[in-house]
Amino acid sequence: MDFAPPYARRGLEHDPQWYRRAVFYEVMVRSFADTNSDGIGDIPGLISKLDYLEWLGVDALWLPPFYSSPLLDGGYDVANFMTVLPEFGTIDDFQELVSQAHARNMRIVMDLPLNHTSDQHHWFQESRTNPSGPYGDYYVWSDTDEIRQHIRIIFSDTEDSNWAFDSERRQFYFHRFFSHQPDLNYHNPAVHSEMHDIARFWLGMGVDGFRLDAIPYLYESDEGTGESEPETHEFLRTFRSFLDTEFPGRVLIAEANQWPSETAEYLGTEETPECHMAFDFPIMPRIFYALRSQQAEPLQMVLAETVDIPPGTAWGVFLRNHDELTLEMVSEEERQALYGWYAYDPRMRVNVGIRRRLAPLLDNSRQELQLAHALLLSLPGSPFLYYGDEIGMGDNIWLEDRDSSRTPMQWSPDRNAGFSDADPGKLYLPVVQSLAFHYSSSNVETQLAQGTSLLHWVRNLIHLRKEHPVFGVGPLTVVSSDNPSVVAFVRDMPIEECKPGESPETLLCVYSFAHQPLSVTLSLPESFRANRVTEITGGGRFPSPNEQGQLVLTLPPQSFYWLSLAGIKASVA
Ligand code: NOJ
Ligand code: CA
Repeated sequence: MDFAPPYARRGLEHDPQWYRRAVFYEVMVRSFADTNSDGIGDIPGLISKLDYLEWLGVDALWLPPFYSSPLLDGGYDVANFMTVLPEFGTIDDFQELVSQAHARNMRIVMDLPLNHTSDQHHWFQESRTNPSGPYGDYYVWSDTDEIRQHIRIIFSDTEDSNWAFDSERRQFYFHRFFSHQPDLNYHNPAVHSEMHDIARFWLGMGVDGFRLDAIPYLYESDEGTGESEPETHEFLRTFRSFLDTEFPGRVLIAEANQWPSETAEYLGTEETPECHMAFDFPIMPRIFYALRSQQAEPLQMVLAETVDIPPGTAWGVFLRNHDELTLEMVSEEERQALYGWYAYDPRMRVNVGIRRRLAPLLDNSRQELQLAHALLLSLPGSPFLYYGDEIGMGDNIWLEDRDSSRTPMQWSPDRNAGFSDADPGKLYLPVVQSLAFHYSSSNVETQLAQGTSLLHWVRNLIHLRKEHPVFGVGPLTVVSSDNPSVVAFVRDMPIEECKPGESPETLLCVYSFAHQPLSVTLSLPESFRANRVTEITGGGRFPSPNEQGQLVLTLPPQSFYWLSLAGIKASVA
C-alpha cells in the first residue's frame, strides 16, 4: 500500500488552525490495548480503539514516545529515533494508525524528545568510545563536574548532580534528567541536522505535529540557568521555519514548565514564530488549590494576568498527564497546602509533585470531577485529557515513580480489565484493583451501560464544547464577583474568528468552589449586559443582569453554569 503523504493525510478537514479548536487526548501506546497477548499495549491495539476515541469526541491524539528505548523513563530515553519499539509494533503499523486516524478526521501528534537520548543510543556509545570520531561532540562533555553547579536538578528524588562520570571516556557528561539520559550538545550543528532529519522522517508519514519535550533545556552555558537560554529560542525559530517551509500546517507544542510570560516566549512573535502551542503549567495546580481551599482568588489572578499571545497560537490546558502533578509553579505556602490535601501519604509524592491520577486526587467526588472537567473544557486554549480520566480511573501508588498513573486502560470487567488476554502476571504493569477503583466497576463497558456515568457526562460536555467554538478561540474577560469562592469569566467570539456558517457568541462561565450552596452577585462589564441569558446544557432561561450589570445567581456546592449572553444592547456592545 502506498502510504506517501497524500494518502496518509486523506480524510483530514482543511483547517490550518485546527489545533485551536481541538480536544486532545494523551494516550501511551503501552497502556491502551494489547492485541498480541504479550501483556504490552501496541499500535494495532490503539487502532482498534479509534472508534471509541471518535465517539468520545477526540480530535487529536498526543502519543508519548514509542521509539526504540530501554524504557527507563517511559520511552523518553530514546535509543533510536527512526524505529518503533518492536513490542509496540512496526513503522507499517504506525502508518496504518496515521491513515486510520486521519480517515476519522483525527490528528496525531507525537512526542519529540530533543534534549537528550538514552545512553543506549549509538550516538552516545560512539561518543564515549571515540571522542575524536563523528559523534565525539554530540553530547556535553567536561573534564570537571565543578562547573554549572547552579543549574537546578529536576529529578531531585533520584539525582544529586547534573553530571555523571563515564568510565570509558574518563570525562563527565551533562544530564538534566536521569543519569542514563545524556543531554545532546546543541552547540554542535550536526545535532540540529539530525533532529531535522528525524522530524522529516515522521512528518513524511503524515504526523500532524510534535510535542517538544523538555524544550527549555536544549542549551546551557556557564553563566545561564540552563533554561530558556537565547540560543534555545533561536533553534526553535529555525525549526519552525523548516516546518513551515517543508510541512506547512503541522504543529509544534512546547512543554515548558515555566511561569506564563516565560512560557509565552516559546510561542515567539507573529514575525518570528516558534511553537503553535504551549502547555499552561501555572493554571493547573490552582484548580486543585481552589477545589480544597474553596477560594477562587489564586485561579482568578492567574486568569486575569492575561499574557498576550501571538495570533494563531494557543495554550494547551490539562488536569493530569503521564507525569506527576507538578507543583513547581506555585508558592511554597500553596505547595505545602497542596501536599497536605492531596499527598498526605509520602508515597504519593515524587520530585516536586504528586504522582496520583485525577479521580483518586479528588476522592472520586463526582461533583469535583465535573467541576474540574468543566473548567478544563472552558479555559482559554485547547484541553488535553489523559487516558482513563474520562472513566475516573484509579492509580497504584505502590508502583514506582510515575508508573502509579500509567497502568492499563480499563475497558471491561473481564480479565486484565479487557486490556489484554495475557496471563495477568505478564502485564507491563498490573491493572488497578484497589477497593474504590477496582476495574470490575471502573471500566468503559460498565460506564457505557449506565447513562449517568462519568464517561457519558464527560463525553456530553466534550460534544457541547465542540458546538461552541468560542471555547477554543474566544478571548477571556474575568468578571468580578462578590463571593470569594466564585470565579467567573466571559468568553467572547470575535467575528473574525467565525468560520462560514458560524456567528459570534458570548458565554458567561461561572464556577463555585464552595462546599455549601451559595449566592453570588456578578458585575458584568458594560459590553456584556445581555437581556437574554440561557443555560447552554439544557436551554433553560436565567435572570438577566440589571441596568448596572449586576447578575445574582445561586449555585449548589461545587457547581458551574455555562450561560449564553444574547441581546447585548447595541448601543453599548
Ligand atoms: C518530560 C516528560 O514529560 C517526562 O515524562 C520525562 O521524564 C522528562 N521529560 C525527561 O525526558
Ligand atoms: Ca502487545
